Amino acid sequence: MNFKQVSFLGGLMAFAVIVLWLGQNFAVGAEIPVPPDFSYEDTKPLGPVPFSHKFHVTEKKQQCPDCHTKPKLFEMKKLAASPKMKMANLNEGQFCGNCHNGKKAFATKEAKDCARCHVKK
Ligand code: HEC
Ligand code: HEC
Ligand code: HEC
Repeated sequence: MNFKQVSFLGGLMAFAVIVLWLGQNFAVGAEIPVPPDFSYEDTKPLGPVPFSHKFHVTEKKQQCPDCHTKPKLFEMKKLAASPKMKMANLNEGQFCGNCHNGKKAFATKEAKDCARCHVKK
């Protein structure tokens, strides 16, 4: 290889490194600002159910499309699904139950785990 070819290859490699670095820093959901926490209140007789984007996205590395596109679990509008969200639906795998099924995350059916979502008043 002559000098020109070597410096061309060097430049190409530097470019690839920059592209990879940008990809890691900006393509990941954790870097996008996430909406503030809110709470589902239609939960009587149990306590309300807070939902945290920060926890799911930043700590548990769930991506926006995991909840907002592919099987379209949720609209990007807080409490939009609330009227349709009953434990029967969640237990069938809809809404939160798509992950909270005992496989990807703790299940909605276990009596010992109700209080992990339904916080005490
Ligand atoms: C673990 C599931 C999950 C993930 C991951 C997730 N969201 Fe959400 N998002 C929700 C739920 C649940 C709602 C409320 C929908 C409802 O109640 O019907 C919501 C609502 C929203 C809203 C409306 C908030 C408001 O105040 O009205 C926006 C905006 C949003 N999400 C953006 C994002 C973005 C951006 C990402 C990725 C960084 C993301 N979400 C990742 C579950 C998720
Ligand atoms: C993954 C979180 C989660 C777990 C675990 C969970 N729930 Fe819920 N629950 C919800 C959400 C979300 C709603 C809907 C609230 C709304 O629409 O405002 C709800 C609603 C309810 C409601 C009122 C609506 C209905 O279906 O009658 C009751 C009662 C309830 N849950 C009982 C329970 C019991 C009992 C357990 C444990 C066996 C449990 N929940 C476990 C998230 C959870
Ligand atoms: C895309 C998958 C996904 C969806 C949808 C989802 N979660 Fe989760 N959630 C997780 C994972 C993963 C964890 C962490 C694993 C575990 O604790 O079992 C978690 C943990 C939690 C925790 C435990 C927090 C703690 O401090 O231990 C709560 C509460 C919770 N989710 C509530 C909800 C509610 C309410 C909904 C629906 C509005 C929901 N999640 C929808 C994936 C999801």
